[in-house]
Amino acid sequence: RVDEVGKFKEIVELLELEKVLDREIKLLSGGELQRVAIAAVALREVDVYMFDEPSSYLDVKQRLKAAKLIRRVASWSKTVVVAEHDLAVLDYMSDHVCILYGKPGVYGIVSKPHGVRNGINIYLEGYLPEENLKFRREPVKYFYTAREEAPLEERMASWGDLEKRLGDFTLQVRAGEIYRGEIIGILGPNGIGKTTMVKLLAGILEPDSGYVATQHLKISYKPQYIAPKTSKTVREVLEGLSEGILSDPWFKAEVFEPLTLEPLLDQPVDTLSGGELQRVAIAACIAQEAELYLFDEPSAHLDVEQRLAVARVIRRVTEKRRAATFVVEHDLIAMDLIADRLMVFSGEPGVKGMANPPTSLRKGMNQFLREVGITFRRDPSTGRPRANKEGSWLDRHQKEIGEYFYAVVSEEEGGEE
Ligand SMILES: Nc1ncnc2c1ncn2[C@@H]1O[C@H](COP(=O)(O)OP(=O)(O)OP(=O)(O)O)[C@@H](O)[C@H]1O
Ligand SMILES: [Mg+2]
Repeated sequence: RVDEVGKFKEIVELLELEKVLDREIKLLSGGELQRVAIAAVALREVDVYMFDEPSSYLDVKQRLKAAKLIRRVASWSKTVVVAEHDLAVLDYMSDHVCILYGKPGVYGIVSKPHGVRNGINIYLEGYLPEENLKFRREPVKYFYTAREEAPLEERMASWGDLEKRLGDFTLQVRAGEIYRGEIIGILGPNGIGKTTMVKLLAGILEPDSGYVATQHLKISYKPQYIAPKTSKTVREVLEGLSEGILSDPWFKAEVFEPLTLEPLLDQPVDTLSGGELQRVAIAACIAQEAELYLFDEPSAHLDVEQRLAVARVIRRVTEKRRAATFVVEHDLIAMDLIADRLMVFSGEPGVKGMANPPTSLRKGMNQFLREVGITFRRDPSTGRPRANKEGSWLDRHQKEIGEYFYAVVSEEEGGEE
């Protein structure tokens, strides 16, 4: 009914909505509903289009598809305004960026528009040159290349080839292992079995065939969906999980402060917002001493700075406790900061998932992005990954040499901008 631009077919195809066209709206999954909402906006004939966090609930492939569609809308000589937390997606779809800064919950200031590259770099630097104003204490830095694989010495947990059926869905897992002190990132599309794998590792689900050897470990697990059934305060919950944790200097400096928990301490957990609850759930998971930590989508509902803080916090706890950690994550930039190795999931969402054994960050990113068909270059001043425009010189070059994420060539050599 809203097709005012006569582009119904094109947009439905781009967002892969063919399969759900005849389905009732109330039956759609979070990701499907989000794509329908994006399509409904794009189909309108207006002068200014606005999208507020279009990437929520979408996997990486769908995020980049949505970004492509939004660029398509802009190419009709229209103005498009987007608010977005995923920096890679924001970068891919925008021409200009306004930075909003200030004090959350108190006041916000909108900067003048900057070119997309410069704007995101200013944001990461935390310094606005035109105002000579520092709006964050520390700049955000990225690894320039994939980290060297840490020496894998002490095996913490392992699993054999295994299979798990849930209704019509089957997950097949190929044997793998995790070592002390490492973080394995879990990467793959929606509905491919990532959460199922985490539950198998946590011992919540049992495989139908094969084994998971984690029973000997103390495990702490942050589920993807958090629904607190208590009206206890944040303070009571954290102290209840680990007595004295709030006066522990390490916890205070490395977890409590980076996650800005102070203002939440005396609030009942069942009154917290999505992002607040997420930060408390992460802290609750870390407050428990464990050898195996499992974080299912810790960055959901968080803004860019909080995502970076969470990446750091997870790395710190893994080091400090000499633990082994799994993290499910859709935000590639956050994943790049968190993970030492990657487990890439492939297959047919909702039907059949295949979990590949952990591999290096570089190989895993290449494996995943080859399927998605997107390449990234590195910003020369911050090391931040930037999605290449499809068909550009760098895009073609990187696909040819098979380096989708950690190519040595910089955008200056490629003359991308
Ligand atoms: N108890 C169940 N019974 C039937 N099907 C289930 C059950 N639990 C999960 N599924 C289905 O199994 C598939 C994999 O689910 P899972 O939660 O592991 O996906 P995921 O990779 O974590 O996805 P997302 O990125 O959306 O979180 C989905 O299609 C889901 O609908
Ligand atoms: Mg999941």
